[in-house]
Amino acid sequence: MLPERIAQLDVAIGPDLLAGQLLKGSNYEFRYLDASAAQPSVALLMPAAARLTWTDGDLFPPMDQNLPEGDLFMRIRALFPKQQTTAMHLLALIGDNGIGRLGFRIPGFDTPTPATPLTKADLLGTAFSPKVFDELVAAYLSTGAGIAGMQPKIMVPEVRFAVPIPTLIVKAASEAYPGLTANEFLCLRAAQLAGIETPVFDLSDDGQLLVLERFDTLPKADGSVERLGFEDIAALSGQRVRDVLSDRKYHGSYERIAGLLKQLQLPQRDLDRFFEQVAFSVMVRNGDAHLKNFGLLYRSSTDIWLAPMFDVVTTSIYRYTQYAGGPELEDRTLALKLFAGRHATKAYPTTDELLAFGAKVCNVRSPAAVLRRIAEAMVQALLEAGSDERIPTGMLARMREVWDSGRRYGA
Ligand SMILES: Nc1ncnc2c1ncn2[C@@H]1O[C@H](COP(=O)(O)OP(=O)(O)OP(=O)(O)O)[C@@H](O)[C@H]1O
Ligand SMILES: [Mg+2]
Repeated sequence: MLPERIAQLDVAIGPDLLAGQLLKGSNYEFRYLDASAAQPSVALLMPAAARLTWTDGDLFPPMDQNLPEGDLFMRIRALFPKQQTTAMHLLALIGDNGIGRLGFRIPGFDTPTPATPLTKADLLGTAFSPKVFDELVAAYLSTGAGIAGMQPKIMVPEVRFAVPIPTLIVKAASEAYPGLTANEFLCLRAAQLAGIETPVFDLSDDGQLLVLERFDTLPKADGSVERLGFEDIAALSGQRVRDVLSDRKYHGSYERIAGLLKQLQLPQRDLDRFFEQVAFSVMVRNGDAHLKNFGLLYRSSTDIWLAPMFDVVTTSIYRYTQYAGGPELEDRTLALKLFAGRHATKAYPTTDELLAFGAKVCNVRSPAAVLRRIAEAMVQALLEAGSDERIPTGMLARMREVWDSGRRYGA
């Protein structure tokens, strides 16, 4: 049980570096412990070289970005009904088990006993039921799971590593979006066939669990794991998961994201990759590619790159509500505007508009070739899925319909 009030947390970078302290009074304050300007940063836009003490009225966005929301947050409330769920409590609960390289500890407080590691084969062979998934989440939640997102998910450590860091993300379909995991699997498979970088992924034997390897944890030869820095674009744009107006992740444009990549001086290779990610989302009709579904990985402020594509789903086959009990809507637009500016819209672009985005915004040499490559991979993935018993046939038929029109961008 955590204390009633948490006014201070130690903040670590990776397993060995105690970087500073996070204090919560009337404001949030982060203090680097060391005065050297050359030390690793807790966040790309909070370097020690610029300032050793940082203050903000709310939790710093790069520390807020992995706070559990959606399904996981509800489960935390249910499992620890008496515990406070302030941001400081959630960070203490996350400990070292958040996406990226930061760790949070209450000074002098014992870290929880590590959770039992599993193998990927165990997870892929799991016969899904809501109860089985509840138990899986309960088993791994109490040792900390720092991951955002609305859909049901949990992180699990693997037997193959000497350290009990949760290196696998397990996503389950919710009742609201049947077949979601198989849908995401099919999208990731098409992306992989198109040569777009994705996390290592697999679908469980019964098609109900999507198992992803974390892209921010790299296995090392000695059995340990390197934790890379990770910041999502929402955090980099100063937005928080727990903002009351959490739909802010749907504000902005893909053009602005490209601008951010240029501002951070990422090489052209990453703009090429960003165009692939945007074009793919357009073509498979992923209407949920918001600011938290793009991110940057880094080792230092001069070694930054675009994270692989993640959370990509053909959303247009589902109806959704904007708030509990609200009217059912059809998903007919992008999550963000393609171009920046007052007159730009979230409407799916024409082929010419998408090509212009590639050429002018992302400086891609041959955007048409990228669209062709994606279109061919979509055909191939659908073909494979036809003989894959894990993919529900009804859903596959609906996805095929959507993809058949999406493919025309690359015709
Ligand atoms: N393979 C991965 N490796 C590391 N971090 C990841 C990976 N996949 C997702 N994440 C992180 O976990 C968060 C949640 O994952 P994801 O976006 O897949 O969940 P979701 O619940 O479907 O999200 P949403 O609310 O956008 O629907 C992401 O915002 C990202 O920070
Ligand atoms: Mg997401």
